[in-house]
Amino acid sequence: MLVGSNNYRSIEASEDRSYVKIIDQTTLPFEFKIIHLRTLQEVVRAIKFMQVRGAPLIGVTAAYGFALSMNFDTSNKFLKECKESLINARPTAVNLSWAVNQIFDRLISIAPEQRKELGWDLADTLANEDIEKNISIGLHGYNLIKVHNKKPINILTHCNAGWLATVDHGTALSPIFKLFNEGFDVHVWVGETRPRNQGMSLTAWELEQYKIKHTVVTDNAGGLLMKEGLVDFVIVGADRIAMDGQVCNKIGTYLKAVVAKENNIPFYVAAPLSTIDKNFIGESRNFEIECRDAKEVMTMKGIDKMGNIIEINIGNSPAYNPAFDITPKEYVSKFICEKGVFDTNEIKEIINL
Ligand code: MRU
Repeated sequence: MLVGSNNYRSIEASEDRSYVKIIDQTTLPFEFKIIHLRTLQEVVRAIKFMQVRGAPLIGVTAAYGFALSMNFDTSNKFLKECKESLINARPTAVNLSWAVNQIFDRLISIAPEQRKELGWDLADTLANEDIEKNISIGLHGYNLIKVHNKKPINILTHCNAGWLATVDHGTALSPIFKLFNEGFDVHVWVGETRPRNQGMSLTAWELEQYKIKHTVVTDNAGGLLMKEGLVDFVIVGADRIAMDGQVCNKIGTYLKAVVAKENNIPFYVAAPLSTIDKNFIGESRNFEIECRDAKEVMTMKGIDKMGNIIEINIGNSPAYNPAFDITPKEYVSKFICEKGVFDTNEIKEIINL
C-alpha cells in the first residue's frame, strides 16, 4: 500500500534471503521506519513488543521466523525450538499457531538440507496468499456494503485491521479502500483504541496516506455516534473466531457491537478463514486472552517539541490491561472472509470451503 508515493508491504524478504524488512509499528505515526530482522530472537522480539502486530501479520512474520532460522541451523532440535519460541510470542491471535504449525509440519517432514529453501518459499507463499485473501475480503465486503449508498458513508472501526495488520490491504479496511477506489464518498470514524492507540496511530495514519476522510474519536464516543445516526455500519477485524461464531478481537470491540445492535446498525467482522479456531468452541477458557503490562494503561506516547518520540506517565494507580474481548455471535451481523459473506451460524460449514 502507499506511503507517500511509494508502495510497501508490511513485511518483505530481502532479495538474498538473509533478512526480512518490517515496518516498525511502534514508532508510527511519528516516524516511518523500516527495520531488518535477521534471527529468530529478533522475530520473536518484534512480535512480543508489537513492532509487528495484527493477527494475519503475526502469522506471516512467524513463518519468516522459521525461514531466517533455517539460514543458521536446519536441525530437528532447532526446528522444535523455533516452533516453541514463535508459538509463545503472543497468545491470542490464532493465526500465529495456524502458521507456525503448518510451516513446522512441512519442514520437519523433509531432509534438513532442503529446509532452508523450502522455509523461505513457504513464508513467501503465505505472504502472497495473505494478500490474495485480503483482496477477496475487500471485494466481498465492498459488494455487501456498497448498498449503504449515502454521501458520505459513515463507517466506525476499532483498532487497526488495515494493511499494517496484514501483509497488504488489510481485512476490515480492505472493503473501505475498495469503496474509496471505486469512487464512493466514505468517512471513517476511527476509535483511538486505548491503551496502545492502534486506531489513532495506525488506522488514521493509513487512511491519511490515501486522503480518505476520517476522524479520530475516543473509544467512549462510539455509543453517542451510533445513537445520533452518524454511523452506517461498524467493521472490525478478528484475532480468533469460535466455531459457534463468537469473535475475539481487540478490547472494546464487544462494547461497540452491543451498542450497534441496540441501534440497529450492522456490525461486520472481516477476517480470513485462518482466524477460525476449531478448538474454540465457546468459552474463553479454551485459550488465553492476552493480559498486557499495566504500564501501557499508565503511559502515553507522543513527540516532544524537538520531534523526539517520548513516553509520559499519566498515573500511578494499579491498572489492569486485558488486550482482547469476546463478542457473542448474536451481535455480529455478517462475517466477511475470502470465500464470501456469511452468517455467524455458518462458521462450521465455511471452515471446510
Ligand atoms: O494487539 P494487536 O494490535 O495485535 O490487535 C490487533 C487486533 O485486535 C486486530 O483488530 C485484529 O488482529 C485483526 S487484524 C487484521
